[in-house]
Amino acid sequence: MKSLSRRKLIKFGITGGLVGAFTTKGSMAKALLPPTPAETEGPFYPVTPQDDKDFDLTRVQGRDGVAKGKYIIVMGSVLDSHGQPVSQATVEIWQANAKGRYRHPRDPNPAPLDPNFQGWAIVLTDENGEFRFKTVMPGSYPASPTWVRPPHIHFKVSKKGYAELTTQMYFPGEALNETDLLLNQKKPSERLLMIAKKRGPSETEALDVYEHAIVLKQKS
Ligand SMILES: [Fe+2]
Repeated sequence: MKSLSRRKLIKFGITGGLVGAFTTKGSMAKALLPPTPAETEGPFYPVTPQDDKDFDLTRVQGRDGVAKGKYIIVMGSVLDSHGQPVSQATVEIWQANAKGRYRHPRDPNPAPLDPNFQGWAIVLTDENGEFRFKTVMPGSYPASPTWVRPPHIHFKVSKKGYAELTTQMYFPGEALNETDLLLNQKKPSERLLMIAKKRGPSETEALDVYEHAIVLKQKS
């Protein structure tokens, strides 16, 4: 079975106290990775069928235009609690557009819809447990008169033999993270597991890249 390197786990920031659990040979001892915290699905889980649910959310099949907003790449990794990659996991992705509006009939936000933003994708992890998608930086949006949700992306991750996980990924350095009622219900150690790591842009990557690891719990 493939095993993610210690360096990679550290890069994802999910080793926590586990760094000392690696043996001198670099293999991992039996300590378990903490599971990615679950989060509410929220009210805007997609309900309207759409044909195009591929990894590029910045274009919609059959349309010439492209989505408005700042384009980003998200590189994800799905692991089990032993740090082993989970291949062929289904990763469902949904998010607001750059203005903070969901393509959902009950989103009350008056911000404009973007007909060229796909808003919803379903991808599979590869043999290394990895997935990636191109999208726009989601806008913040009002959840109540006194609460503005920070930019975030919703995930639902499933694979036979594992507990299905619904969660949300946040972005580093966002001031609204500090006041978000959902994120701040989590313990500080859990919050860290829900905030992506930023990489780039580099000379070879014109877009900002965010890396995020998701740890699933095996079904007992
Ligand atoms: Fe949301």
